[in-house]
Amino acid sequence: MSYKLQAVRGMHDLLPGETCRWRQVESLLIQVLETYGYQEIRLPLVEKTELFKRSIGEVTDIVEKEMYTFIDKSGESLTLRPEGTAGCVRALIEHGLLRTPGQKLWYQGPMFRHERPQKGRYRQFHQLGVEVFGVPGPDADVELIAIGWRWFRRLGIEKKLELQLNCLGSLGERRNFREDLVAYFSGHLDALDEDSLRRLKTNPLRILDSKNPAMQDLIEGAPRLLDYLGEASRSHFQGLLDQLSALGIPYTINPRLVRGLDYYSLTVFEWVVPSEVIAQGTVCAGGRYDTLVEQLGGPPTPAAGFALGMERLLALLADSKTPVQAPHLYLIRVGEQAQEEGLKLSEWLRDVFPDLRLVLHLGGGTFKAQFKRADRSGAQYALILGEDEVTKGYVSIKALRDSQPQRALSRDELLVFLNQLCKQPN
Ligand code: HAM
Repeated sequence: MSYKLQAVRGMHDLLPGETCRWRQVESLLIQVLETYGYQEIRLPLVEKTELFKRSIGEVTDIVEKEMYTFIDKSGESLTLRPEGTAGCVRALIEHGLLRTPGQKLWYQGPMFRHERPQKGRYRQFHQLGVEVFGVPGPDADVELIAIGWRWFRRLGIEKKLELQLNCLGSLGERRNFREDLVAYFSGHLDALDEDSLRRLKTNPLRILDSKNPAMQDLIEGAPRLLDYLGEASRSHFQGLLDQLSALGIPYTINPRLVRGLDYYSLTVFEWVVPSEVIAQGTVCAGGRYDTLVEQLGGPPTPAAGFALGMERLLALLADSKTPVQAPHLYLIRVGEQAQEEGLKLSEWLRDVFPDLRLVLHLGGGTFKAQFKRADRSGAQYALILGEDEVTKGYVSIKALRDSQPQRALSRDELLVFLNQLCKQPN
């Protein structure tokens, strides 16, 4: 008996209606990155498992529970990348790129985590990641945040998002904090849920991140990492806050923000949808990771970065009015002669107007049927070639989105008309 094959749970097809929208958004995001001088790096989807263990951390949810790990035919343990920072750092070390100071890079593509799928949380999802290397001061953190702020303003969703910040300090500062935190929670063992009891032994800072409503009062009363910061960390954080204020970028300090990956130090930040108390409300997140490069065998190199979750961004945009780029023209051709004339006309127009979005009707059919398809395509105008147009050497044009009457245009008039059309913003 045959059964219906379906996509793997939590891994989704992007259908033609959506891909157009994705590409539009991606190209806007990338264009902004390029204006800031960031360059693309393309990285493998598969890395040695060891890389993620040594960077993300052995006792994180990602490494403990969520990696797609397998032994390949040569007996090596490999993993589908759950995030992009580790691979990016590995590549920079491997190719000696850190000898050039101030590398500014971006990458995009699918990431894989075996999480429980739900709205906004998938097993294959897409990130656009941005990383800066070799800049120790808060100006790098500020630039990364300014890029996000510019993206969200360009997309018209800046009011839907809140920028949350925290400072995790240095390793030593965190160690002191951790000791006091363990002592505090150990005094309230019966109030901890199962997850937190486990984290108390492995990664106690993550208890602060718990979304369990029953534990919020306890978490509220816990020691605050910000109180453990020394002078250098404080001044880094203050420098960041001052520069954000100078740029008019609003922020909230969230002393409970700890992040789920171990490599961070000093600044961490998240852009969240405030109405969402659940983790899926985080659209974009990152921070500093000043010790990771050295930890992975590279030269000591401060670094910072973040990644944007594309599915979550697109979901946020779904109810906003960013237009999809519909075709300018749908070329209708009826009659034998119009077939070849229409084909030649369409290719010629593509030569003259490289930005023209023109759909040539394929497969014949009556005027009525072709008009129906033209309308469904979302095109602004139908360009019509019938027998009369071909014999008399003109084209007809009909607006599809308003009630302007159909017009007959000579080739020259058509050129003038399309010249105007291609200059319009959309
Ligand atoms: P992350 O917080 O694990 O950080 O992921 C960044 C973003 O990816 C999240 O804010 C979210 O939008 C999206 N995301 C994560 N998991 C899922 C999922 N299962 N389904 C859908 N979207 C998801 C990192 O990955 C770091 N590498 C960011 C970074 C770069 N830090 C420094 N540089």
